[in-house]
Amino acid sequence: MAAVKTIATTPFSGQKPGTSGLRKKVKVFAQPNYLENFVQAVFDSIGGESGGQIAGKTLVLGGDGRYHNRTAIQTILKMAAANGFARVMVGRGGILSTPAASCVIRKYKTFGGIILSASHNPGGPDEDFGIKYNIPAGGPAPEAITEAIYARSLVIDSYKTLEAADVDLDTLGTRALGGMEVQVFDPVADYAELMESLFDFSAIRAAFAGGLRMKFDAMHAVTGPYATEILERRLGAAAGTVMNGTPLEDFGHGHPDPNLVHAHDLVEALTGKDAPDFGAASDGDGDRNMILGRDFYVTPSDSLAVLAANATLCPGYAKGLKGIARSMPTSAAPDRVAAKLGIPAWETPTGWKFFGTLLDAGKATFCGEESFGTGSDHVREKDGLWAVLAWLNVLAARRQSVADIVTAHWTEYGRNVYSRHDYEGIDSAAAEGLMEHLRGLSLKGRKLGAYTVAFNDDFAYTDPVDGSVSKKQGIRVVFEDGSRVVFRLSGTGTEGATLRVYIERYEPDASKHHLDPQVALADLIKIARDLAEIKARTGRTEPTVIT
Ligand code: G1P
Ligand code: ZN
Repeated sequence: MAAVKTIATTPFSGQKPGTSGLRKKVKVFAQPNYLENFVQAVFDSIGGESGGQIAGKTLVLGGDGRYHNRTAIQTILKMAAANGFARVMVGRGGILSTPAASCVIRKYKTFGGIILSASHNPGGPDEDFGIKYNIPAGGPAPEAITEAIYARSLVIDSYKTLEAADVDLDTLGTRALGGMEVQVFDPVADYAELMESLFDFSAIRAAFAGGLRMKFDAMHAVTGPYATEILERRLGAAAGTVMNGTPLEDFGHGHPDPNLVHAHDLVEALTGKDAPDFGAASDGDGDRNMILGRDFYVTPSDSLAVLAANATLCPGYAKGLKGIARSMPTSAAPDRVAAKLGIPAWETPTGWKFFGTLLDAGKATFCGEESFGTGSDHVREKDGLWAVLAWLNVLAARRQSVADIVTAHWTEYGRNVYSRHDYEGIDSAAAEGLMEHLRGLSLKGRKLGAYTVAFNDDFAYTDPVDGSVSKKQGIRVVFEDGSRVVFRLSGTGTEGATLRVYIERYEPDASKHHLDPQVALADLIKIARDLAEIKARTGRTEPTVIT
């Protein structure tokens, strides 16, 4: 009989609650008791008085397949058994995309789940690992819970585990671990079924049969098996539609972030007159997406707006949307669609967790972020393949090219010309100083180039459902014509600080919609750099990444 052991440990400085759980190098996670301390802090926080809440409950567990995933799963399974869970549902091979985890947590009404991922960050022995707890509603834990986990991690003095052999993760079925049941399940099936309930699979199948060609870049990360099953097997896309479809522990030495820089295989495949009609990519854990047409890039902000405008073409949304939510730095393109549809447009701080209350309360159906995140109320995470299927549904229904659909959208609504400039790895003190400097500016009424400042502030948000207040969520400088520049420091980086500058201008004139955003926004880009004194304060003359 496996014995429960209580092991003495010392507190660790886990991580201040952020947007993404605990994210560190593998070498940090592999230190004795490090992962164990965090997991016990989670169990103590959600378990209530002497862990009583956990008794009889089910937990979902899985990850994006990166290096250390299987080791961490064995550790967590033994700790879950020792802490009194009745059952843990683990994706076969330890695989579970973030949106699929959210789907399974909701479908089987479990006591939340643990997701192992460092999202779009590289994997391997010298790279990143991560862990987060998602609540029973399926979404990331809200601040009250992450604060409690953090506080617990600072005082923790022991954890519970089971002395037992490792569990077979590769064969479907149920097996015992001490007094707990481990159910190894198919990580794709429930998720694929949910997608089939939302989108017109027969129309998409007909489009593929009729010659629609696409490429999906899984970037050697978790969406490979999902995309192969859904796109190639269920929807009949040509074999080879899914590129880099085998999850690898180091993502094939890649950086599994679906953007124009890192998804270069895909960008190349979609370039030229013989390129496929449609291209898409997803990140390490399957929650981000990038959408491309032939020689055409769709910004995430425009993607959300276009999908919202065409939502009723998808069976799951045929009755229309209740509202559209976007993060503050995301362009206002979705707001224009909401206005036309006569539904609310919500503006939340950066981070998917802020959408949860709006989705739960039925105030929003679609939501999205400029950082390649799009999703709906079907789960409580952003969902890469969901966005891809939504686009396929729209393409199948409208029988137009991606470029034609987006340019027609701009003609109808005007274009919110948009770009994000990232300055990565800058000195943290310089970054803080730059933000303090911006916070101190009073710009109302000032003329900057051709623009007059309407107001500037540090974005604060009161959740319309639970009343919670979040302050200091990004500096906005908004001009009288609605143009704006926004400044934030990244909360997810691992080295130094990353300054993000978001630049947006509304262009109603269709004859100018074809212009490169870097050209169309040049004057605002200069205004933003000057205002923030970027060169003087960081030594940088150009951003490291432009999206
Ligand atoms: C970034 C994105 C943000 C997203 C988060 C988690 O956070 O900007 O929209 O929610 O990753 O995927 P940041 O590094 O900007 O804090
Ligand atoms: Zn991700």
